[in-house]
Amino acid sequence: MKDRHVNGQRLHAQGITLGYDARTITDDLSVAIPDGSFTVIVGANGCGKSTLLRGLARLLRPRSGSVFLDGELITAYPTKEVARRLGLLPQVQVAPEGITVVDLVSRGRFPHQKLLRQWAREDETAVVEALAATGITDLAPRFVDELSGGQRQRVWLAMALAQQTEILLLDEPTTYLDIAHQVDVLDLCAGLQAHRGYTLVAVLHDLNMACRYATHIVAMKDGAVVAEGHPSDVITESLVREVFGLECRVIDDPESGTPLVVPKHRPVRVTGSTDEEKNHVPAQA
Ligand SMILES: Nc1ncnc2c1ncn2[C@@H]1O[C@H](COP(=O)(O)OP(=O)(O)OP(=O)(O)O)[C@@H](O)[C@H]1O
Ligand SMILES: [Mg+2]
Repeated sequence: MKDRHVNGQRLHAQGITLGYDARTITDDLSVAIPDGSFTVIVGANGCGKSTLLRGLARLLRPRSGSVFLDGELITAYPTKEVARRLGLLPQVQVAPEGITVVDLVSRGRFPHQKLLRQWAREDETAVVEALAATGITDLAPRFVDELSGGQRQRVWLAMALAQQTEILLLDEPTTYLDIAHQVDVLDLCAGLQAHRGYTLVAVLHDLNMACRYATHIVAMKDGAVVAEGHPSDVITESLVREVFGLECRVIDDPESGTPLVVPKHRPVRVTGSTDEEKNHVPAQA
């Protein structure tokens, strides 16, 4: 195996074109995830964030271009080997019917099982740690389909953590969480990055949380990377306008000093009151 840290980046994509059927979503996109970073991907709904994560995790094969993991083409590894190095928490997950929390989290250990070494003490430890880290130890015997949305999201995160991969891709890990649990999950991620040398890539919609936790931000628009770098350099009023079409002020977060995006106040208006809306004819499905 070649040097694991080629160019200092264990995971990078070179000129990848990703799409579904005839539709191209990213065209010739290159991105490198800095080793040991907490990289946060931001961008409007539908701009291709999840598609990019799937491409980086080898769930979606690029039509052209390549993804490299530890200096090799990611396609060159056996599936289990990729899963031992890189974990993905997808945006949408469906649990098998009637499965308990502890059984689902235990599935994160599958890449570590070998034919002759089934369940071992380190698997047990990894599962117990993942349950504790996500604050769901008490939920262990419960059925996943009987949990609330936020509880369920923490179960999936625990499954990804139990996989114990040094590279972890998380697609909206905080979407269903209340503010305290959002902070808990992001603190947990920051701890893995700062103290255990993990490389984290997360898609987040909350720009202010992104600015607090990210060491590196990748901003996407229409399937392309439009800016990347440190949050203070990337998250500006013009970037928010360009990427989200939103007028805002960016001030210093009083707690952390990181950028804080405050949408500009606009008067409430009655929907359907503009000429454009009055004349709008809905498209046929
Ligand atoms: N399985 C699929 N089949 C066909 N088109 C898809 C599929 N998944 C996503 N798309 C399309 O690809 C585009 C990018 O979707 P993607 O899920 O990557 O966006 P996203 O940036 O993650 O958005 P969101 O913030 O809403 O999660 C969208 O136009 C979407 O409709
Ligand atoms: Mg998405």
